[in-house]
Parts: sequence; structure tokens; C-alpha cells
Amino acid sequence: MIIVNSIEELFEQTANFNGSVGFVPTMGALHEGHLSLIRQAKSNNDFVVVSIFVNPTQFLEGEDLDAYPRKEEADKKICQLAGVDVLFMPNKEMMYEADELSITAPAKRGFILEGAKRPGHFDGMLQVVMKLLNLIAYHKPSIFRAYFGKKDAQQLALITQMVKNYFINVEIVPCAIVRSADGLALSSRNAYLSKEERVRALSLSRSLRKATELVMQKELKVKAIESVMREVLNEVDIEYIALVNRQFQAIDEVEIGNTIILVAARVGHTRLIDNLWI
Ligand code: PAF
Repeated sequence: MIIVNSIEELFEQTANFNGSVGFVPTMGALHEGHLSLIRQAKSNNDFVVVSIFVNPTQFLEGEDLDAYPRKEEADKKICQLAGVDVLFMPNKEMMYEADELSITAPAKRGFILEGAKRPGHFDGMLQVVMKLLNLIAYHKPSIFRAYFGKKDAQQLALITQMVKNYFINVEIVPCAIVRSADGLALSSRNAYLSKEERVRALSLSRSLRKATELVMQKELKVKAIESVMREVLNEVDIEYIALVNRQFQAIDEVEIGNTIILVAARVGHTRLIDNLWI
């Protein structure tokens, strides 16, 4: 594995790629969830690039940018063992200049749920993803795929829309959520949870399982499902419970095969999200 810390070195490396390229963008503190994206990229492509960049423009004032877990050495080992070809670790100065043009998330889909709770987050996220896709595909690989987890379902929907709206030549590959044995969706932010908070955090996945049970019992009404989920989530601070279709439009009834159930909650100081596609 080659580790590159500059854009010039990245271009030198990717110039040698002769075949399909799979790209996994990350903010580091890699866990089994990231590994599953890397494994999928590895099994589908001739070359795999991973980026680690804690992107400042997607953090709001007062969020955890400075505290965001950084585990560079462990991350390098994980990538090496996973067979990554190029690990790109840029810094802020090479990614941004002072007066940049910006990307704005779409008015409807971009400013509900996560977009409403974290206004501006998706603008910064889309901006860096656009930059990273352009950088990795600089030499125009014949096949270029980028891998994103379904856990950040709204992020995934917006990236898919950006790729469509800006005619970017990349296939976006959605990847399944990875959970620990007790059901907690893996996230770098789980590291903030105390033992007691981790137990309470399990109610997020429990509420989603409960929702599935209801759907299996033919309860399709969104209001009824939401109210049962709210009961299961009584030990955390709920930010939102939402049932939307795959286009992130509000629905009154679950449509099997086209619905995402999302939950966001604070457990102590930690903000967690989880979702289920049904
Ligand atoms: O999901 C993430 O880790 C980040 O939002 C991403 C896609 C790497 C952009 O910084």
C-alpha cells in the first residue's frame, strides 16, 4: 500500500491504474463498517483507494470537529491489511482555499431531517465528496465506483443526486449497515459513549426492529409506527423519527420496498443516527 499526503503524489499513483477503481472516502477512525466498504470495493475492482480526511466544512460551529476521533496509525494498519492500494491523507490546506465557490444541498431533500438539525452540514459534505471524486478519477479510469454506507441514508441520497445533477462519471455503490452483535450500528462516534450510554443507545436499533415487527403485522400507518418507536426510545433524547420513501419524501403509509425508517437521538452528549430500509 502506498500512502500519499499530497495531490501530486495521488495523481502519480492513480496514473498507473489500469483497470477499474473503487474508492472509499472516510473521515478515519476506521471500524468494521468502513472495512465492509473496503472489502466490497476490493472484491469489485482492480484498484482500491481509501481517503482519510476529517472535513472541516461539514462540521457546524460547536460540533465535534476538534474532538472527532483520530487514529491515524491504526487506520493505516487496517487499510494495509485490507489490501488497499492507495491511502490518500490530505490536509485542509491542500483541499481548500480561502474564498471557494460552494455547493448547496437541494432545498427540499437537503434541509429536512439531518439537514434541518445540522444546517450547512450537507453543503460541506457534498463539497468535499465532489472534490474527492474529481481527484481520485483525475486520470479517468474506465470504471469508477465509490462506496457509501446506508447508515448515512440521506447523505447517500444527496450524493447520488449530486452525481446525477452534475453528470459525474461514477457509480455510487450503497453498502449495508454493519452492526455489533447487540444491534448497535457501527459509528466512529460510538467511541464517545460510556458503558451506561451504550446500553441506552441500543434503543435506536430496538425501535427499528419494533417498527419492522409492526410492518410484518401489517401495521403500515406512519403515525402508529412512529408512536410505538417513541415509546421504545424513552431513555434517549429523540431528535427525529421519520418514515420517508427512497426519494426522501414524507409518506403516510409504509410502501414495502420503497421506505426508509430513520431515527436520530442524543445519548448523553453523543448524537447517533440509525435507519432501516424496508
Ligand atoms: O460519511 C463520511 O464519513 C463523510 O461524510 C464523507 C463521505 C467521508 C465525507 O467527508
